[in-house]
Amino acid sequence: MKKIKCLVTAGATREYFDPVRFISNPSTGKMGWFVAEAAKNAGWDVVLVMGPSQLPAIDGVRTIGVVSAQDMLRACLKEFDDCHVLIMSAAVSDVRPKFVAAQKVKKGDIDLNPQLERTPDILLELSKRKRNQVVIGFAAETTDVENYAKAKMAEKKLDAIVANDVSAKGVGFASDFNKISIYFPNAAAFFPPLDTKKNLASAIVDCAAGLIEKKRAGKA
Ligand code: C5P
Repeated sequence: MKKIKCLVTAGATREYFDPVRFISNPSTGKMGWFVAEAAKNAGWDVVLVMGPSQLPAIDGVRTIGVVSAQDMLRACLKEFDDCHVLIMSAAVSDVRPKFVAAQKVKKGDIDLNPQLERTPDILLELSKRKRNQVVIGFAAETTDVENYAKAKMAEKKLDAIVANDVSAKGVGFASDFNKISIYFPNAAAFFPPLDTKKNLASAIVDCAAGLIEKKRAGKA
């Protein structure tokens, strides 16, 4: 059987106003980094598309560094068609400045009401191209985590969604720990205990492996 190809995204994107100012979020990329490592340890061919990050390269994982949501979309479109599973853990910025200055804008000239536009929804775009791939999304919420996660799973036609409450203390962004719940369209949810991102990444990869098996057996 063909080796499983897994596309993982990780980290935040940056949406620049000018060469020194940008919109972003606190994601460090750790969760996706551990997912890529766990997928490699499962014997899969792994491509990691990663926003700007301090994390080291993973031996045996092809890493593509990107900056903006548009870059991430472009990189993912190149890799998605022949992959078996996409695990989209990147914290993509939802908006970007409409106008980008080529040179640093002087302090006094900064537009205090800059126009913003939405970035492409990468997961939605890739889901539209989905053939047999298993597609797993993430949902970082601060309220009503379960409902928002399930709504996203339906909207983006996902095979599973990993939800976490980023308002909870000591877990989530930048932490080595996380508390996640994994929801499926037609199966009972999975609630692993609070754990290291490393262990949770293995659980996510196990879950992806199960979904691939099910697809191959024609049961999903
Ligand atoms: O809708 P929301 O942004 O909360 O959905 C989260 C999921 O969608 C994550 O898997 C995230 O990586 C992905 N996403 C995306 N492109 C965006 C925003 C989010 O792929 N512009």
